[in-house]
Amino acid sequence: MADPHLVVVDDAAWLARAGADVVADVVHADGPVTIVPATGDTPVGMYAELAERHARGDLDTRDVSVVQLDEYLGLETGDRRALFGWMERTVLGPLSIDDERVVRLPTDGDVDAACAAFDRDLEARGGIDLAILGLGTNGHLGFNEPPSNAQSPTRTVELTQDTVAANARYWGSEGDVPTRAVTLGLRTLLDARRIVLLVAGASKHAIVRRALEGPVREDVPASFVREARGSVTVLVDRAAWEGE
Ligand code: F6R
Repeated sequence: MADPHLVVVDDAAWLARAGADVVADVVHADGPVTIVPATGDTPVGMYAELAERHARGDLDTRDVSVVQLDEYLGLETGDRRALFGWMERTVLGPLSIDDERVVRLPTDGDVDAACAAFDRDLEARGGIDLAILGLGTNGHLGFNEPPSNAQSPTRTVELTQDTVAANARYWGSEGDVPTRAVTLGLRTLLDARRIVLLVAGASKHAIVRRALEGPVREDVPASFVREARGSVTVLVDRAAWEGE
């Protein structure tokens, strides 16, 4: 059972550097590594820091594969708001990770059947070395919305009102946000050899405290990081930790 290593940092720049150090540690290990990168605001600075290190020649990504964490359902092909497009622009392109090293979540046809096959394939290829996660104000990890249990598989989900409201900033208004999505399951994420959870801003204060100090249970999916199989680092900025 994981005992998360909590690191409280002063600000966004620290969070970016400390997160990048964890990723670099995993990337510099011998042999191929599989990484799951969260999208969203919190890790943007960290991806920029990684991109800089890569551009300087300090981060060799040739052995890195990426598995998609989550995606909206029902979008037109090429919709710029797709999380995959975000990941291409912010992670894959800047870090020179080619298409053949990217595993994309299913979004067409019988998505639930495809998700079951996805989990089997991911397990067969050795699972995840590093999951880079953000925390929803409702306690979600990926789109594992509350309630989600630790055994949740990769699957289609209905987004909660909280998540729809939080994502409205990308879509114009709440009414435009897709309400269905697909997410890697908690079972796969909690099985990762390493997890880094990034949390920033006073709006995350209550939920980060609940996740790390409250009971471990389904209505706060992120609380299950305390039962993850591998090592867990939680990087929290002071605003989120102290609630200022
Ligand atoms: C994004 C994702 C979400 C976010 C979370 C925090 O791929 O899976 O779980 O990590 O909602 O989002 P931000 O960082 O925008 O506050």
